[in-house]
Amino acid sequence: MSEQHLKIFDTTLRDGEQAPGCSMTLREKLRVARALAELNVDIIEAGFPAASPGDFDAVKAIADENRGPIICGLARCNAGDIEKVHAAVKGADRHRIHVFVATSAIHREHKLKMAKEEIIRSAVGAIHMARELCDDVEFSPEDASRTELAYLAEVVSAAIEAGATTVNIPDTVGYTVPAEFDRLFRYLKKHVKGIDDITLSVHCHDDLGMAVANSLAAVTAGARQVECTINGIGERAGNCSLEEIVMAIKTREEFFGLQTAIDTTRLYPTSRLVSGITGMQVPRNKAVVGENAFAHEAGIHQHGMLQHHSTYEIMRPEDVGLTRSSLVLGKHSGRHAFRERVVQLGFDLEEFELNRAFQEFKKLADKKKDMYDGDIEAIVLNVDNASSGPWLLQKMQVSSGTDQPAEAGITLLNESGESLHEQASASGPMEAAFKALEQATGISVTLRNFELHSATAGDDAQGEVTVIVDYNDQSWRGHGTSVDIVEAGTRACLEVINRIIRRRDLGLNSVAPAPDINRASI
Ligand code: KIV
Ligand code: ZN
Repeated sequence: MSEQHLKIFDTTLRDGEQAPGCSMTLREKLRVARALAELNVDIIEAGFPAASPGDFDAVKAIADENRGPIICGLARCNAGDIEKVHAAVKGADRHRIHVFVATSAIHREHKLKMAKEEIIRSAVGAIHMARELCDDVEFSPEDASRTELAYLAEVVSAAIEAGATTVNIPDTVGYTVPAEFDRLFRYLKKHVKGIDDITLSVHCHDDLGMAVANSLAAVTAGARQVECTINGIGERAGNCSLEEIVMAIKTREEFFGLQTAIDTTRLYPTSRLVSGITGMQVPRNKAVVGENAFAHEAGIHQHGMLQHHSTYEIMRPEDVGLTRSSLVLGKHSGRHAFRERVVQLGFDLEEFELNRAFQEFKKLADKKKDMYDGDIEAIVLNVDNASSGPWLLQKMQVSSGTDQPAEAGITLLNESGESLHEQASASGPMEAAFKALEQATGISVTLRNFELHSATAGDDAQGEVTVIVDYNDQSWRGHGTSVDIVEAGTRACLEVINRIIRRRDLGLNSVAPAPDINRASI
């Protein structure tokens, strides 16, 4: 790789998925991993295999598909974690083990209760062990930005000497500012022997809204890998946003003198895919991929744009994969055109899923005169949910009014094709539908959050509902779409119930507590 190549390390499936409400099923993770491969990221951090058997299986499934990027898994500095990462990622031709241990005084004293030397020993031991299994080993001193500079340099030197091929400097709590981070990177460049022989990486969180700015400061000071997530999802305020970093490097190439390998026309579809799957809506004014990112409202701006687009536009919408008119298909569109659009939107469907999605498309086209990309995304996401039963929504009727209780009748179909009808009443239609679902499936959940968005523009737009519910002391997220918003909410709740039943049937509902990331010794 040339000196001018900036590696993009995507951690949507690891740090991004750690965000509350962003957990994904294995099928969803595979779908995101395929989109990331299409986007041409250099590295996919696919998960934390020691966190749970589900995480392990997902990392392994992604690695076994071997779609091109390096597949990486995260490990604490202990033998069990490292072996699990290796077992999960080794199916990919190019794979990486990423080990980390916290180094700041705050973490040393309050979390790890380990002395400085002990931490270095633990890191060195872990890197040696990982190198025996894999040539590509990344090391991260967690909370690096709050670590004493001289000690950080000592840790990084020891990591390089032990064989780390990439050293990543995380701003774990989003605390640093660009000028300070620039100083930190320049200090390491000056004081760490061998630093020019490895890839220096940066990993920023967005607690003060500076993750992208801090990452760019590190890049100008010599970092050649940026760790980021689609839509900036991640712990707390999130991680550095992939689309913003990539478009900053591309738009200001004359300043940075660097290039990424990203196919930028895949940015918008990938952003939509991740927000559809996680239910984390992208703010309208979000840079690069927000709905308003290319909208010009003020008359003076519109006038300028008509004279020449560069007056008020520094990127072209088509560069990020946003087509001005997203009115794409109609009632008479055929299966071939539908498939093409589905692929362009970043979905990779099995034949049976495509057939089902096409049938749904035809049904919707009868109800709705204009079909947009958002409608197609909604159909595909619904089909994905619907194809993972055990319960399918066959029919529903709801009645409600200002002076009467709401009534909901729900008919569900199970996997053996038997149908079950339940009726319930409540003060509102959504509550009545949820009650009927509970009666039918025997699963009682507590609704924590209900969000409704319009999938596209227009009076006949589909409603997209995301629900977050509590069950067994855990949070679950579900997503449903329909032109009828009560039906969309019912589908979202049924998706959660189906997931709970599937996990229960696998014996997984009393989920093990998250691993104790505080114990870092080898
Ligand atoms: O934020 C952080 O420090 C991390 C490390 C594990 C890289 O996510
Ligand atoms: Zn992080």
